[in-house]
Amino acid sequence: MRLELDNVSIHYGAIHAVRDVSIDVASGSVAAIIGANGAGKSTIMRGIVGLVPLSKGEIRIDGRVITNLPTEQRTRSGIALSPEGRKLFSEMTVHDNLLSGAYLRRDARAIRDDLDMVYALFPRLTERRQSLGRNLSGGEQQMVAIGRALMAAPKLLLLDEPSLGLAPAVIHMMAGAIRKIALTGVTVLLVEQNSHLALSLSQMGHVLEGGRLVRSSPASDLLHDEDLKRAYLGDDPLVVK
Ligand SMILES: Nc1ncnc2c1ncn2[C@@H]1O[C@H](COP(=O)(O)OP(=O)(O)O)[C@@H](O)[C@H]1O
Ligand SMILES: [Mg+2]
Repeated sequence: MRLELDNVSIHYGAIHAVRDVSIDVASGSVAAIIGANGAGKSTIMRGIVGLVPLSKGEIRIDGRVITNLPTEQRTRSGIALSPEGRKLFSEMTVHDNLLSGAYLRRDARAIRDDLDMVYALFPRLTERRQSLGRNLSGGEQQMVAIGRALMAAPKLLLLDEPSLGLAPAVIHMMAGAIRKIALTGVTVLLVEQNSHLALSLSQMGHVLEGGRLVRSSPASDLLHDEDLKRAYLGDDPLVVK
């Protein structure tokens, strides 16, 4: 599914969090939005799923305007968000957290198949099936958050800071999982402070500063850009900043 943001602005009261952002994510591609804490990355994600209204601009999926649709209809249209901070149900099991992602679906057979797919993608969750959300490690929580988003059978998957707070080995595993998801044809928009990770997974990279898009380039160009390296990338590709 193609995603287009066209001159999108978002305010929180007087705070102008996102300023005239235009991004075109090709169907089946992986794109990254990178930028420092507070740049407006999560706000863009919330705008795409309809959790905050746009003050200006338009959002389209496959050419269809969704700017004013309620969140539930966007979910039905195939957009799913794995939010920053995971936001699991802490008193529910892994299994029920995953199933909650399918709440709008009625196709029991396909839901079961997708559950199998999520457990195959994250084998660790099979062992943790009956554990409560609050008893999971950060990495396990992130697997559940992504798995829950996949249970909506999305055509566009939004991942907000999937590597945040995770150990390098877990980040490697997560990167592999995101690559596998992308191979299924799902369009992925990835938001990260860990720029190196995000760009290494993406075809296109978009750099956000103070709510404004300052660069949109092939991710490989950004990965090798000396100025950008100094500003964002650091020395260790797996350091989570
Ligand atoms: N609910 C909110 N109310 C008011 N301001 C907010 C809210 N959420 C985020 N902001 C502000 O909007 C800006 C962008 O935040 P955010 O989108 O969370 O950035 P990022 O995800 O890139 O760290 C920041 O200045 C932040 O303080
Ligand atoms: Mg954020």
